[in-house]
Amino acid sequence: MTAADEPWWKAGVLYQIYPRSFADSNADGVGDIPGITERLDHLAWLGVDGIWLSPVTVSPNADWGYDVSDFCAIAPEFGAMDDFDRLVSEAGRRGIHVLMDIVPNHTSEQHPWFADSRSSRTAAHRDWYVWADAKGDGELPNNWISSFGGPGWTLEETTGQYYFHNHLSEQPDLNWWSEDVRAEFDDIFRFWSDRGVAGFRIDVCNVIIKDAQLRDNPPATEDDDFETQMFGQRSVYNANRPEVHEIIRRWRRQADGYDEPRLLIGETPVPLDKLAEFYGNGSDELGLAFNFNFISAPFRADDMRAIVEETEAALPPGAWPAWTGSNHDMFRFPTRWAEDDPAKVRLALLMLLSLRGTPVLYQGDEIGMANVAVAHEDMRDPLGVRFYPYYEGRDAGRTPMQWSDGPGGGFTDAARPWLPLGDLAAANVAAQREDPGSILTLCHDLIAFRRDHPEFCTGETEPLMTPASAWAFTRGERHVVALNMSPETVVLTDLSGTIAVCTDRSREHDVVASELRLAPFEGLILERP
Ligand code: NOJ
Repeated sequence: MTAADEPWWKAGVLYQIYPRSFADSNADGVGDIPGITERLDHLAWLGVDGIWLSPVTVSPNADWGYDVSDFCAIAPEFGAMDDFDRLVSEAGRRGIHVLMDIVPNHTSEQHPWFADSRSSRTAAHRDWYVWADAKGDGELPNNWISSFGGPGWTLEETTGQYYFHNHLSEQPDLNWWSEDVRAEFDDIFRFWSDRGVAGFRIDVCNVIIKDAQLRDNPPATEDDDFETQMFGQRSVYNANRPEVHEIIRRWRRQADGYDEPRLLIGETPVPLDKLAEFYGNGSDELGLAFNFNFISAPFRADDMRAIVEETEAALPPGAWPAWTGSNHDMFRFPTRWAEDDPAKVRLALLMLLSLRGTPVLYQGDEIGMANVAVAHEDMRDPLGVRFYPYYEGRDAGRTPMQWSDGPGGGFTDAARPWLPLGDLAAANVAAQREDPGSILTLCHDLIAFRRDHPEFCTGETEPLMTPASAWAFTRGERHVVALNMSPETVVLTDLSGTIAVCTDRSREHDVVASELRLAPFEGLILERP
């Protein structure tokens, strides 16, 4: 395959938009689709090749769009279908692909399918959801619990059976053993793909099909990881079923049926060996799979390097990694990895944009936006509301995009945005656009460098020997990426070339004869002679 035959996203950069917090065009405090369209020039300037949108479909918002009540209509607070079509065409004019978020695991309890399903045991949609009787002795059908807390089963008084939900009780899980459910989602995929959508981010991809016999999950043991032990059981039967792969293969066949094959990106919060399985044989399942092992890794050279190398080793031939540091669930990397230290933020961006694979930025990453402390009374995430003060929910990573330090942060003209604004003076797009030394300029220049050097993006990678606190690897034939992930100066030997991009911009174009000194938390791309 020549570079020209490669799918667009392989050398590309993707960017996640959380629409509710990106740009508000109608002063109601909530971001919307026309707002995204108005900001496309920022994304085109930044150089992104594709955007994926957290759900913009109709939802009662028990879980902010992840409880869908109509998969083929735009939520009124985000605009109309015409606005969506315009976004796709305006983005296309700028060379930006638009991907949707699709939520196949569950619907809203207000979805007409569920309204019918819950109405009687003989309803047409009854078996579209996971229903079960209480155990003989009046206990819950089995021991499955919800990842959002509490039992996974809720009693439906009308029919006397329980329905299962891996998340909120307002999010009943669909029954993917039903051929009708499968056919319906084929139609949903077709509906959006035919409108010009370039692919889908698939919500909780590993969860969607449940054990047909509804067997009890085994208890966690002390050999399990921290999360599983806290959860108390291994999610063997309520999620992570091998049968999910057959479903993904079905979607992939459909995605590949288009002249420009649609991209499938999975939300796959699973261990590395399982992650590899979501790529199938390398070309028959997901195109990209989010790597939560990487997102959750400590920002240390040895930890990150180990995960990247294990990922590379685990993936089947032809599979392509995705690297991301932030999203609307996992908070922002500038705080999580970089502790709001601009040097570390710059280093993390250079790392993300240099690894072999597709980088996926989250809105605000490009300006190093930090998590925002959201007061209890302002919390909107149902998890924060439910578990405060033990868990503050996910709002800290969902606050409005900081476009300027003007009123409303350039996000809204409303007196009050749906979530509070962060520290506008610390990071905003307008100020950073003007500043050649800013994080935004670095991010822009890194993406421009990728575009000018396709071989840097799609070429092979080899790790290089370094002291433990640093990490270096080749990119393609001509480049070396060197990262000092420590607070001490590090010296790498036997490296020569010209510094192409550096977190310390003053070093660019410097020639390295053989010894490369890296200041604390400095990173660079070296072009070999
Ligand atoms: C993953 C989504 O990213 C998250 O925001 C949501 O709460 C759950 N899936 C349930 O849909």
